[in-house]
Amino acid sequence: MGETIRFLLDGEVQEVRGANPTTTLLEHLRGPMRRTGTKEGCAEGDCGSCTVLVGEAEDDKVSWRAVNACIQFLPMLHGKALVTVESLAKGGDLHPVQQAMVDKHGSQCGFCTPGIVMSLYGRAIAAKGAGAPVGEVLAGNLCRCTGYGPIIEVAKGVADEAPPTVDLSRVRDETMLRLSYEDEVHGLTRTWLAPRTIDELAQAYLAHPDATIVAGATDVGLWVTKLRKPLPVLISLSEVAELKALDETAEGLRIGAGVRYVDAIEAVAKLYPDLGAMMRRLGSTQVRNSGTIGGNIANGSPIGDMPPALIAAGAALVLRRGDARREMALEDFFLDYGKQDRRPGEFVEAVIAPRLDVGRLFKVFKLSKRFDQDISAVCGAFSLAVEGGVVTDARIAFGGMAGTPKRAKACEAALIGRPWSEATVETAMAALDADYAPMSDMRASAAYRSLAARNMLRKVFLESQDPSVETRVVPESARPERAHG
Ligand SMILES: Cc1cc2nc3c(=O)[nH]c(=O)nc-3n(C[C@H](O)[C@H](O)[C@H](O)COP(=O)(O)OP(=O)(O)OC[C@H]3O[C@@H](n4cnc5c(N)ncnc54)[C@H](O)[C@@H]3O)c2cc1C
Ligand code: FES
Ligand code: FES
Repeated sequence: MGETIRFLLDGEVQEVRGANPTTTLLEHLRGPMRRTGTKEGCAEGDCGSCTVLVGEAEDDKVSWRAVNACIQFLPMLHGKALVTVESLAKGGDLHPVQQAMVDKHGSQCGFCTPGIVMSLYGRAIAAKGAGAPVGEVLAGNLCRCTGYGPIIEVAKGVADEAPPTVDLSRVRDETMLRLSYEDEVHGLTRTWLAPRTIDELAQAYLAHPDATIVAGATDVGLWVTKLRKPLPVLISLSEVAELKALDETAEGLRIGAGVRYVDAIEAVAKLYPDLGAMMRRLGSTQVRNSGTIGGNIANGSPIGDMPPALIAAGAALVLRRGDARREMALEDFFLDYGKQDRRPGEFVEAVIAPRLDVGRLFKVFKLSKRFDQDISAVCGAFSLAVEGGVVTDARIAFGGMAGTPKRAKACEAALIGRPWSEATVETAMAALDADYAPMSDMRASAAYRSLAARNMLRKVFLESQDPSVETRVVPESARPERAHG
C-alpha cells in the first residue's frame, strides 16, 4: 500500500507525503511548489486562470487534458504527469503561444494569461489540434480586460505540436498506484482511498458508507473550496478501470459511471445528436475533461444537464452495493430535492442509454444566459414517436422546473393519441402548468421558466415541420467567425 503522492513534473518525479487529501492541486502549486504562474481567480472552475495540463495513461499512450487545478484534489494527480505554464518557456525563450500573446497584444493585466496560454497549448498538442473550435477551447477561460479579439488571433496562428514525452511508469507501478492514506489535520483524520477495481470499490464503500465518492471533483471540489466541507473520508474512482468503460451494444450504449464527458460525447452524439450538441456546451473544456456523467447523475442536482435527456431517452441506471446490483429507470432515481434512491454503501456503476426507434423525434434544449460554460435555467428533452400524423408515444423531461429532473406526464398525456398539430401542441404546452411549479432564482423567474418550457415544445413542433426554421443559437463550431470584443 503506497502512501506517497507521486507525479511527474517537467521530467522529474515529485513526491508529496502527508498532504491533506482535500488540498487542491492549485494550493499545492502556489504554496509548497512556488509555481505561482498558475493563478487563482474564482476557485470554482469557472474562470480558467488555474488551467494546467494533466497527462494520464490511456491505452499505452499518454493523453493530455486541460483541467482546472483549483478543483482537482492533489491525490488525483497520483500516477500522472503535470505541465504548468512554467514548463513552457525553454532556455529563456517563450513558447510560441506565449510569444504570440505578446506579439498580438493578447494580454493586458495578465491575470488570465497563463490559463489562456495553457488552454491554447493544450489545443496545439491535442489530437484535433488546431482543428478544435477556438470558442470551445476558450469557453472556460475568462478574460475581463483584453477582449477576445486578439486572443482569437493568437489561437488562429498556433501550430500543432507534439505532446511532451513522459515515462509514466516512473510513477505508476502496481504498488505505487495503490494510494490510500490517512492524514491528521488539527486532530481530525482525513482518509483518501483509491480502489483499483470495482470489487475493491464496492468493499471500500461498504466499509465506509459515509465516505464521499470523488469522480472528476467538478462538484465535490467546490464543496471544499466554497463550502469548506471537511470531507473526512474520500473514495476516488479515478483508478477503477471498469467504471471508465463505454460499450456500444446492439441495444445502445452502456456508459460506465466514471466516463468523462470528453470521452463520451462522440458516442452519445451518434445515438442522440441533439444531446451530443448540448454536451459540447456543458461546462467548459476543462470541466468536460474532468467531469463524469455518473457524477452528474449521482449529484442529483435539479439543474444537472444529463438527466432530462437521458430520462426522455428511457435510460436505466445500474447501482451496485457490495456484490449486489440493481437496475432502475433513471427517472425513479430522483426522489426529491437532494434525495436519490441510493442506499448506504451503494454507488452508481453505469447508465444504459437505449438506441432510439428509427424516425423518433429526439430534441434537447439547454437554455442558459451564456451559450457556453453556464448552468441551465431550463433544460428540456423530448422523445416523440409520430406515426401517420398521430403522436403514438411521448417521453418529455425537464431540468430546472422542479426539485428534481422530472418527466412531464400531463404534457405527454396531452400529446399521446392526438394529431401532431399546432392545436395539440398548444394544449400540451398549457398542460405543462399541471406538471411543474418552478421557482424563481438568480437564473430565471418562475414565469420565465414556465414560458421557456412551453416554447421548447413549440420549437420541437416547428423543427419537425420545417428543419430550416431557425429555432436555436448556432453552435460555435458551426459559426464562420466569432465577433471580436
Ligand atoms: C465551472 C463548472 C461548470 C459546470 N457546468 C455544468 C453544466 O453546464 N451542466 C451541468 O449539468 N453541470 C455542470 N457542472 C457541474 C459538474 O461539472 C457536473 O455535475 C459533473 O458531471 C459532475 O461530475 P464529477 O465527475 O465531477 O462529479 P464529482 O464532483 O466527483 O461528484 C459529484 C457527486 O456525485 C457523487 N458521485 C460521483 N460519482 C459517483 C458514483 N459513481 N456513484 C455514486 N456517487 C457518485 C459524488 O460523491 C458527489 O456527490 C459544472 C461545474 C463547474 C465547476
Ligand atoms: S481559479 Fe477560476 S477556474 Fe480555477
Ligand atoms: S488580460 Fe486581464 S483578465 Fe485577461
